[in-house]
Amino acid sequence: MRILMLLSAVFATFCNASYDYYRLPRSIKPQHYNLRIMTHLENPKRLIFTGDVEIMLRIFQSTNNITLHAGPGLNIAEGSTRLQLTKYHCHELIEIKSMQRHSKYDFVILHLDQYLQRGQRYTLRLRFWSRLGHSMAGYYASSYLDNADDCGQQFMSVTQFEPADARTAFPCFDEPDFKATFNITLGHHSKYNALSNMPVLERIPICERQNWLWSIFKQTELMSTYLVAYSINNFHGYASQNYKGHVRFTTWARASAIEQCRYASELGPRIMSQFEKMIGIEYTLPKMDQLAVPDFSAGAMENWGLITYREASLFYAEDASSHLDKQHIATIIAHELAHQWFGNLVTMEWWNDLWLNEGFATYMATLAMEKMCCQWHAYKEDMLDNVLAVLNTDAYFNTRPIHQAVSRASQISELFDAITYRKGAVLIRMMHMFIGDVAFHSGLHCYLSKHAYDNTRQADLWLALTEAAHEYDSIPLDLQVQTVMDTWTLQKGIPLVQVKRHYLKKSATITQQRFLIIQEDDSYNQAEEHLDENPCWFVPISYATQCTYNSIATEPRAWLRCTAQHEPVPLLLQNLSGDDEWLILNIQVAAPYRINYDTDNWELISKTLHSSEYYRIHDMNRAQLLDDALALAWSGLMTYELTLELLTYVKQDSAYIPWRAALDQLNSIYRIIRYTDDFEEFQHFMHHLLSPIYCYLDGMQKYGDNRHHVAHKTLIAKWACHLSLRDCVERALKYYHRWFICSQPDSMNPVPVNLRSVVYCTAMQHGDGEDWNFLWHRYRNSSLASEQRLILFALGCTEKVFLLQRYLRIVYHEQSFIRKQDASLIFGAIVRSEVGFGVARDFYFQNFKLLQKYYNANTHELIALLNLIAQHSSSLEDYKQLKTFIDGHQLVLKQSSSRSLLRALEQAKANVLWRQHKLPEFARQLAMCNCD
Ligand SMILES: *[C@@H]1O[C@H](CO)[C@@H](O)[C@H](O)[C@H]1NC(C)=O
Ligand SMILES: *[C@@H]1O[C@H](CO)[C@@H](O)[C@H](O)[C@H]1NC(C)=O
Ligand SMILES: *[C@@H]1O[C@H](CO)[C@@H](O)[C@H](O)[C@H]1NC(C)=O
Ligand SMILES: *[C@@H]1O[C@H](CO)[C@@H](O)[C@H](O)[C@H]1NC(C)=O
Ligand SMILES: [Zn+2]
Repeated sequence: MRILMLLSAVFATFCNASYDYYRLPRSIKPQHYNLRIMTHLENPKRLIFTGDVEIMLRIFQSTNNITLHAGPGLNIAEGSTRLQLTKYHCHELIEIKSMQRHSKYDFVILHLDQYLQRGQRYTLRLRFWSRLGHSMAGYYASSYLDNADDCGQQFMSVTQFEPADARTAFPCFDEPDFKATFNITLGHHSKYNALSNMPVLERIPICERQNWLWSIFKQTELMSTYLVAYSINNFHGYASQNYKGHVRFTTWARASAIEQCRYASELGPRIMSQFEKMIGIEYTLPKMDQLAVPDFSAGAMENWGLITYREASLFYAEDASSHLDKQHIATIIAHELAHQWFGNLVTMEWWNDLWLNEGFATYMATLAMEKMCCQWHAYKEDMLDNVLAVLNTDAYFNTRPIHQAVSRASQISELFDAITYRKGAVLIRMMHMFIGDVAFHSGLHCYLSKHAYDNTRQADLWLALTEAAHEYDSIPLDLQVQTVMDTWTLQKGIPLVQVKRHYLKKSATITQQRFLIIQEDDSYNQAEEHLDENPCWFVPISYATQCTYNSIATEPRAWLRCTAQHEPVPLLLQNLSGDDEWLILNIQVAAPYRINYDTDNWELISKTLHSSEYYRIHDMNRAQLLDDALALAWSGLMTYELTLELLTYVKQDSAYIPWRAALDQLNSIYRIIRYTDDFEEFQHFMHHLLSPIYCYLDGMQKYGDNRHHVAHKTLIAKWACHLSLRDCVERALKYYHRWFICSQPDSMNPVPVNLRSVVYCTAMQHGDGEDWNFLWHRYRNSSLASEQRLILFALGCTEKVFLLQRYLRIVYHEQSFIRKQDASLIFGAIVRSEVGFGVARDFYFQNFKLLQKYYNANTHELIALLNLIAQHSSSLEDYKQLKTFIDGHQLVLKQSSSRSLLRALEQAKANVLWRQHKLPEFARQLAMCNCD
């Protein structure tokens, strides 16, 4: 999830900072909130809310001030702020001497004329009001047109509080371990409906306002502020029919899209019961609402009992959504539902352990999908995606440990990245594999039961899993889960495991070091932080030789260990086979590390891959072999001669997973080589590689049945068309033309759903302004969010500079017809294309002020775009331009961490270095491959 920050409205603040620390003091804890919010959506020019909150406090340490959070845009009526001491049934007012706002940390500090007594209970009452923002954070408004009831532009309001925006909606103790119960009451016009975490208890008329209602909600469980949610809307609800359980399940959307909720509403309850079975703990609330929000910055948000989604993450139309949309929707729903336990019931104590939330939600979601829809291979494919992403992102010098200290709110939002989500999931899978299925589930059950309604640190998890692992005898007694996992969570980067076989002695020596994409570079000597002297990981080593190979034996047979001083200890494997058999480590890629073998072993592996026996090596391992070889060659640790020899085996492989890995790596090369004289050679080579699988998967032909794997077919077709394989381009254009001449293209689309992404993009790439306009109009007329996103992306595939410039203008200057949530998608689409790179980059550099304003000065978002530019930079000139720009805008950009800026430069530099030093060798080897 990615969150936008409100840095606007600066408050006139005076601060005699006697308390200069970003965390709230622990002397006072909130027990309960009575929160009442009245929302005004009637006047589009005056979208506001007013509210009051009563917070019941317990005093743990005597103090004469109360410090809590309130965001900069939240106006507090000082005159009506009251503090009461409750003794039995008497109330005693306590005078508030002054109220101070501290903008650096969003604090409100109330100074009292007496000390609050330890053990006593007090009630603090505050009134406040604010505008409903449009930046998709806090309590905000979203607008939409709904052709079902033809009322013109309509408004709804909804919250998005994670990680630190509850404070912009009401004054509160906005840290995850201040759990409290909430009584929420929402005031609204009777033409609207009100939703919150809990079911409505009653609705009563508001006396002084005709046609207005108070919707009073049941009291919540003990929960963190970032999970509080509410919405005022006139959506339609779709009740799930199929579920017999104890939870009432409803899916909400604007009226004309309600039919597209059918799939989500059927699937949601089924996934919920799957989790209840897997985890062994019932979902504790009486209801679950899923709400599709027209403007939404993250994919979805797991608010307890009221999950909010981007429309594209929830809507499914039988005849217009692709199979990949379906999987995407299912996975997101599963992710958010997994959070109801991992995050909502048991919450991280502080954001530095965010990965506990997100890693688990990601991992448990794929486990559930695997059980429910096994024909999708969700487990294998999602985990491969995640492992590949980790091995690549974490290979940069400028990365971070997954457990990361944070203070300012803007740093918290930076944590919602690939490291937290993907590395988190991959590490949990690694634990699952090394402690075994039974111990894993039993350990998790204990962990969740013990800490329900409470907060945890990663050490709590290690403890629960160690107990289970020792009980089931799945790790050596002298090993604690913490000892292993600390090396993975507190340390950044990933290990490169080197295997050196001693063929005569039938043994092998295994060593480790950190894997870096740029192997030697002087510039890091100037970096503030030096490479850790002794990076060392506890690495689970599973392995097999050619004859003993068993692709399901994923449990470690040995451990690569570290000394107490954190020094790596080499490992000796004995009793291996002789020099005619290969050795392969890390069965099914149970742990995220790269492996380099000695040349003889690589050649033995290559021989098997090129034989008809290749499929005996598990497809996850085939993927890792390809991915490792290409990555090692990129960094100069392996020759391209050997790498390409290995790679070409893939021609005979019909499985998706190895292709996915190979093409992922080849993409890094493609991005660079397309600007050089060697491109033709590369294209030739790729045609050769792709043709057999393209034919095997029936290329661009419509699916007769579901015989072929959709993801695979889409991937191959995308590459084939992109590299101008004739059959692919011709068929794509034919499909598009058929659509183009339809008399009613909005209701009739002859392009096969699963091929649409490829067809649209190819048509734009080879088409003209007329083709572009046609597709643009289909976007305007479509009411299906996923189709709209597909089109928006494809519109960026055009190679006509004037169209790209026009497109960027529509997005950022005119700001019409395109929602903010989709802007970065479009920018990304344009940067990716050969012609678009320069256009997008120039636009970014020349319109930076505009972009800052557009993204509400959210540097996180701005840097994400800069990273895309870096990723596609490859000439020295590109690098220099990027560096000049970054140096010139330090002040603005550095508001986020400098790590991500350094990272962008490092990425561009890696490309430049490859182009200078490795491309010649690569091209030479390509030419040799192409001859035979
Ligand atoms: C509030 O009270 C606490 C404890 O008495 C004290 O440590 C802290 O400095 C006070 N904060 C302010 C802003 O006065
Ligand atoms: C919260 O609401 C419930 C039901 O309306 C009520 O019984 C309870 O007293 C309220 N809690 C507090 C602390 O006001
Ligand atoms: C290797 O095999 C021999 C004979 O089978 C056995 O005695 C020895 O213990 C084994 N060594 C290891 C390290 O497993
Ligand atoms: C959208 O569809 C309507 C009716 O099908 C059509 O009249 C209109 O021209 C279309 N709009 C655009 C922008 O193509
Ligand atoms: Zn999540």
